[in-house]
Amino acid sequence: MANETSTDINWFPGHMTKAKRRIEQSLKLVDIIIEIIDARIPISSRNPDLFDLIKSKPIIVLLNKCDMADKNRTAQWIDYFKLKGIESLAVDCKTGKGLKLFESKIRGILSDKIEAWKLKGMINRNIRAMVVGIPNVGKSSFINKMSGNNKARTEDRPGVTRGNQWFTISDRLEILDTPGILWPKFDDPKVGLNLAFTGAVKDQILDIEMLAENLLNFLKDKYFDELLSRYKLEGIDCANMTGHELLKEIGKKRGMLLSGGVIDTERAAVMLLDEFRSAKLGKITLEEVTL
Ligand code: G4P
Repeated sequence: MANETSTDINWFPGHMTKAKRRIEQSLKLVDIIIEIIDARIPISSRNPDLFDLIKSKPIIVLLNKCDMADKNRTAQWIDYFKLKGIESLAVDCKTGKGLKLFESKIRGILSDKIEAWKLKGMINRNIRAMVVGIPNVGKSSFINKMSGNNKARTEDRPGVTRGNQWFTISDRLEILDTPGILWPKFDDPKVGLNLAFTGAVKDQILDIEMLAENLLNFLKDKYFDELLSRYKLEGIDCANMTGHELLKEIGKKRGMLLSGGVIDTERAAVMLLDEFRSAKLGKITLEEVTL
């Protein structure tokens, strides 16, 4: 990211090593990994090291926040993961939409394993799962939604590391209550921008106007109609404007003026990002499938 600060870089190695170790330790306790990603940025919200970390452990990807993502693009992303041999599901962990299918999907992924358990006489063996994902992607929301009010935790048991607590989701599924936190990788500047657009990175460390202008350039290319109608820009030659010019136009439309009639582009930038993050601008996906 252009203006990545030293704070970003400092936390990375120590936190990441610790987080990875934690995931590695929990790995042997679970049958499947639930990776939660942001449906608006399915690539930028993944940590590419996860696959090395989990080795051959089965995985299901949840495209969360699908209530704010472009429906057609989400369907394309689900096809994309399928092509890669990964089962995925579009969900909204705030309302619980899509989660009904979750358990049957997991059973499908683990069907061979479940058969093998049965052959070994483990008829009532529960499926154990752990949740992983980057900060703010919806890990806690998912766990809360799945466990509902029945946060009945099973006690420590032989073979399970002391201190590990589980949520009993149903009579056949348990989820480790501590999700594995992974940090995104900022190597590609586009990834940094996508994370910032969606609010996964704190605004304090970012140049808000630069962000807004970049977002406007993207919207101009991919969601032109949404941009025009939200800010009533019809009749203005937006297609040939720069991100900065568009931001000024939006500030003007919303009456964001400083003394002397100067347009308050900083205020306009804050508003634009707020409206994008709350999906007032529409259901928008920032990353397209490229095969
Ligand atoms: P984390 O554990 O991975 O860090 O994420 P967490 O569940 O705390 O979720 C981070 C934010 O994302 C929360 O908003 C949460 O409500 C929101 N969120 C999670 N899943 C979804 C979803 O599917 N759709 C939408 N629209 N939002 C989702 P917050 O602003 O931090 O809190 P609040 O709005 O819940 O008060």
